[in-house]
Amino acid sequence: MKRIVILVSGPSRGSNMRAIIEACREGRIPDSEVVAVIGAREDAPALQHAHALGVPTAVVNPNEFPEPDMYGDALMWVLQKAQPDLICLAGYMRLLPKQIVQAYPLQILNIHPALLPLFGGKGMYGLKVHQAVIESGMKVTGCTVHFVDEQYDTGPIVLQRCIPVMDDDTPETLAARLLPVEHETYIEAVRLFVEGRLRLEGKRVKVVG
Ligand code: GRF
Repeated sequence: MKRIVILVSGPSRGSNMRAIIEACREGRIPDSEVVAVIGAREDAPALQHAHALGVPTAVVNPNEFPEPDMYGDALMWVLQKAQPDLICLAGYMRLLPKQIVQAYPLQILNIHPALLPLFGGKGMYGLKVHQAVIESGMKVTGCTVHFVDEQYDTGPIVLQRCIPVMDDDTPETLAARLLPVEHETYIEAVRLFVEGRLRLEGKRVKVVG
């Protein structure tokens, strides 16, 4: 069994998290289990959903540590206990501490609600992303699952899926139409990972087998 740990942020509603948990349980992601969900606040909606689904949860609150390194060490301690084969960021809105990125090379995935490398980077999250897409005039947008490196949204791209931008779209309608596509794309990326079918060649991730 492959062990998956999901990291969420304080306000995360956890729909990608739930999609991954359910896909593991239904065998759409084979031989895998979400063994823990780690969040920043006990009252986060995502943690409550995880708890209701019977998945163990842990809270590591970055605001409780005077130094970022100390938060990283605490998160590392919890992760080491969970022994993950794969870490999935799902609505984790901060930069992952460097020591964690270094400890789990090519074992951390994130989903971003745009076609990276467009519309990514610090501060680009939630409706701000969709607002920027609409203002740009682009006729397509989408989502990106990528490996996590030490910066925001710059790691090797695993999968992308597109949807059209309609003339009457608002950030809210675009986000709502993209969300189910995010779930499918994240599930597929996790499946390819656990099947051992992702190969990094330079900056490109190739799907083998
Ligand atoms: C998603 O749009 C994801 O792309 C982004 O944060 C949002 C999280 O939504 N990284 P949810 O908590 O999974 O519902």
